[in-house]
Amino acid sequence: MTKRLYVKTYGCQMNLSDSEKMVGLMAAKGYQLTDDELEADVLLVNTCSVRERAEEKLFSLLGQWNQLKAKKPSILIGVTGCVAQQEKDHVRKRAPYVDLVIGTHNFHDLPDLLDEVAQTGSPITRIGNLKAPIPDDLPTMREGKYHAWVPIIYGCSYFCTYCIVPYTRGPYQSRQPEAIAREIADLTAEGFKEFTLLGQTVDKYGLDLPEGDKTTLAALLRLVAALPGVERVRFLTSHPLDMTEELVATVAELSNVMEYFHFPIQAGSDKVLGEMKRLYTVDQYREKVAMIRRYLPDATISGDIIVGFPGETEEDFAATLAIVDEIDFDSNNTASYSIRPWTPAGKREDQLSEDVKADRLRRLNQLTTEVAFRRNRRLVGTVQELLVEGPSAKNPEVLMGRTRGNKQCFFPGSPDLQGQLVKVEITEVRPFTLRGELVRTAVPLELAL
Ligand code: SAH
Ligand code: SF4
Ligand code: F3S
Repeated sequence: MTKRLYVKTYGCQMNLSDSEKMVGLMAAKGYQLTDDELEADVLLVNTCSVRERAEEKLFSLLGQWNQLKAKKPSILIGVTGCVAQQEKDHVRKRAPYVDLVIGTHNFHDLPDLLDEVAQTGSPITRIGNLKAPIPDDLPTMREGKYHAWVPIIYGCSYFCTYCIVPYTRGPYQSRQPEAIAREIADLTAEGFKEFTLLGQTVDKYGLDLPEGDKTTLAALLRLVAALPGVERVRFLTSHPLDMTEELVATVAELSNVMEYFHFPIQAGSDKVLGEMKRLYTVDQYREKVAMIRRYLPDATISGDIIVGFPGETEEDFAATLAIVDEIDFDSNNTASYSIRPWTPAGKREDQLSEDVKADRLRRLNQLTTEVAFRRNRRLVGTVQELLVEGPSAKNPEVLMGRTRGNKQCFFPGSPDLQGQLVKVEITEVRPFTLRGELVRTAVPLELAL
């Protein structure tokens, strides 16, 4: 009988991408993916530890799975990803019924390890070296039909003082450009059209490759954008320190590279930025945004912001509000600071109370929504190019596509348009979504004749 796999993924796009590979590897062994936990033979959770709350969600999920296992003891439970890497013993202690704990550099061993557990009946923990290379060309089962996540850098070497990622993902390593180009070329043959190049500090791409192979993100964009069938390319996340004029000029020059920058500022006060070890000042950030807008006046600029970093005063926070208003961000992922193991900021004694953090987060969210709405209102009456992803979840007669600036746009249309680039006139906007009508392009003369 076919065995079934259920996967729950928390965290960032890198984790989504790892999950797609684990599913691909398991499918190659004959497993079928299911979205029903009750019929699964293997339950897998790919975890995130960027904030404490994400970890708490994990243990409540594992508790539920333990109950399923009590009814059907043959079920195998696996924990992968950042929490597994970071707290393997803790996972074992709090959830001793877990069969497999696999670190971030070993996810590709999943099928073999499952066989081993099934044969021996004993649980396995496999946490490898964070410097180990991650193999290319793993079978992958993608979530989308037209859009694919493509990691180009693994890990991060920045060590911002609040962040756990360098401890769970290891030092940064770029993939070879040929491997990336090969992956994308294969995907275009399967009908994929849009590619998001992933890395924690994607604009550092290529600088760590061996002498002779060194390259840049700008050069990689040229290589990828020139592949036949590549209609759209995006990249994220950019670190402001590494954003170069060459990169911005390349985005402006290549028509199939989207004018979309995920460009987190994190805080609006130089004092806090310094203590976060972000390595830029507010002024330097402003200059980089001005440079982007000089080349691409309508570029989408989104980011991430943390409120309630240790020692953040009301004045520091006011500076964050002021910069959100000034930069006119299209969107921001906002978060309340969460103490993380090993991180220098986590050891500080001047932690803020949960109440202060929650209040600041609420005020920031209100402003980011207002600013996003203001940005979107400028789009009313404009014509936007969309890549149509499919019918909207709520209404099958309404399609959803993304603009070049990565905004979701809903419009009435026929399902045949799925996977196509269309032009839509924006008629109505909300803070985070757009609505529009298809523009009937005039039939070219030679076709009309
Ligand atoms: N590499 C990206 C961010 C990766 S983590 C960058 O440098 O911007 C994703 C986001 O989680 C971060 O941008 C940050 O806003 C948030 N984050 C990271 N550590 C956090 C912590 N300890 N508390 C709250 N938010 C955090
Ligand atoms: Fe974390 Fe900073 Fe690296 Fe981003 S750049 S992943 S915030 S350490
Ligand atoms: Fe979370 Fe790990 Fe990504 S901590 S944000 S899943 S790199």
